[in-house]
Amino acid sequence: MLNRQGRPTAAGAAGAEAHPTFTGNRALAQVEPLIFEIGHADVTGVDLDEPEAFEPRLGGLEREGAIGLPGLSEPEAMRHYVRLSQMNYGIDTGLFPLGSCTMKHNARLNERMARLPGFGDIHPLQPVSTVQGALDLMRELGRYLVTLTNMTAVALSPKAGAHGELCGMMAIKAAIEAKGEGATRNVVLVPDSAHGTNPATAALIGFKVRPVPAREDGWVHVDDVTKLLGPDVAAIMLTNPNTCGLFENQVVEIARAIHDAGAYFYCDGANFNAIVGKARPGDLGVDAMHINLHKTFSTPHGGGGPGSGPVVLSARLAPFAPVPFVTIDGDSLQLVEHAADAPEAPFGRLTAFHGQMGMYVRALAYMLSHGSDGMRQASEDAVLNANYIRAGLSDLMSLPFGDKPCMHEVLFDDAWLKDTGVTTLDIAKAMIDEGYHPMTVYFPLVAHGAMLIEPTESESKASLDLFIATLRDLAIAATSGGDKTRFTGAPYHAPRRRLDETRAARNPILKWTPPTPLAEAAE
Ligand SMILES: Cc1ncc(COP(=O)(O)O)c(C=O)c1O
Repeated sequence: MLNRQGRPTAAGAAGAEAHPTFTGNRALAQVEPLIFEIGHADVTGVDLDEPEAFEPRLGGLEREGAIGLPGLSEPEAMRHYVRLSQMNYGIDTGLFPLGSCTMKHNARLNERMARLPGFGDIHPLQPVSTVQGALDLMRELGRYLVTLTNMTAVALSPKAGAHGELCGMMAIKAAIEAKGEGATRNVVLVPDSAHGTNPATAALIGFKVRPVPAREDGWVHVDDVTKLLGPDVAAIMLTNPNTCGLFENQVVEIARAIHDAGAYFYCDGANFNAIVGKARPGDLGVDAMHINLHKTFSTPHGGGGPGSGPVVLSARLAPFAPVPFVTIDGDSLQLVEHAADAPEAPFGRLTAFHGQMGMYVRALAYMLSHGSDGMRQASEDAVLNANYIRAGLSDLMSLPFGDKPCMHEVLFDDAWLKDTGVTTLDIAKAMIDEGYHPMTVYFPLVAHGAMLIEPTESESKASLDLFIATLRDLAIAATSGGDKTRFTGAPYHAPRRRLDETRAARNPILKWTPPTPLAEAAE
């Protein structure tokens, strides 16, 4: 059987089901047990000397038996992890359309730079005189970030977007307290379309959350915001471009209304990648905004980390930035690290050490290799690609806010699946069988059965065409009557079939019972 590109399909292993293997492996698709199932407590890949006698200082609490960790020889350990990695989907394997996550190509040049010994091998406790180049890089990165956003100051250290939100909102809280309004301004406005981290951040530091209701056009309206304003409002947390893939067209008016009410404008900058080089948040009235380096500036997401979420601050909030920060002292750079050295920094530090140095290097390498024209083009291409997907699918899939131009991501809902017996989740699972990571599903909550697709600028036209063709095939199959098990039972071809997510959430089994040899060794 040939696929769309005329190449033999994997099912060209026709009859695979009819010829099960003895091992359960399917050629390169290997069955890989847990390391605890293949490891042995008495095997090791390294040869360590017996430790010299020492006096324990744990007051009799020291462990007496072996821990029972599974041991493997070096080649076994290598194979185990390489095989596991081959079961995973990554940006280096294919198009990764997760909306709001911006899974763009991680350029190899950036990886190379991060591994230069002067950056890769330094230690955060080294004397400052020995890491002048690294400090200079941090200063330069900060300069680029405040220039691109037209803001005044930057706190580099937050380690993710959500952490950046915490930093920015703590700066806002500190500014409010400095004005003596800490007791009265305790409400934060958060639109219904916001990422869950926004209300969570506000609540975490003691604010009450007042939702801004969703409108049918997907935009936040200044009238709705104004109605909710009062002397108790500390800030709004507004995402721009928003999570529906739209640029907030009343953002300037909203900023003005917020400022007139004596409150601050926190912008969730997760989608900054759509406007770099095109619009500067400082010009729109933003007071604080985090920038996910792992989205906008192509640093790897890395399985949940290491993210990096620097926060840029307006002149009004700059005095409330946390430590550490870099200063110039004559010819040399200094790092202000301790709250005691920066009495004006109201809440000390947010991270151990200085943040994600490796990500700083990669992000600056991305910026320098693109240049200002390249960064602008990246934003334009990201928007063009999302609109190309919108145009390629809008006759089959429904758009909750009408068929109007989007920014870097396009949001579909599940109205087109009505009465088909197929759900958004089924479409996502069927995409896995087709060799794609699913798009973001069921977010944002303002669109029923949301499917949020963000192709990024990394994808070629050929790659987008194939993706669109695949989704069209699935859409036609889902809506054309007939057998739906292709969807409802998917994925069929992944290393793991569909999990019972409800059971996993309601009745999680968090304890793994070791097989007997390891259990005995641990006794
Ligand atoms: C709109 C929005 N805000 C905040 C975040 C949180 O960022 P992070 O995952 O880096 O903590 C995300 C992450 O996807 C997001 O999409």
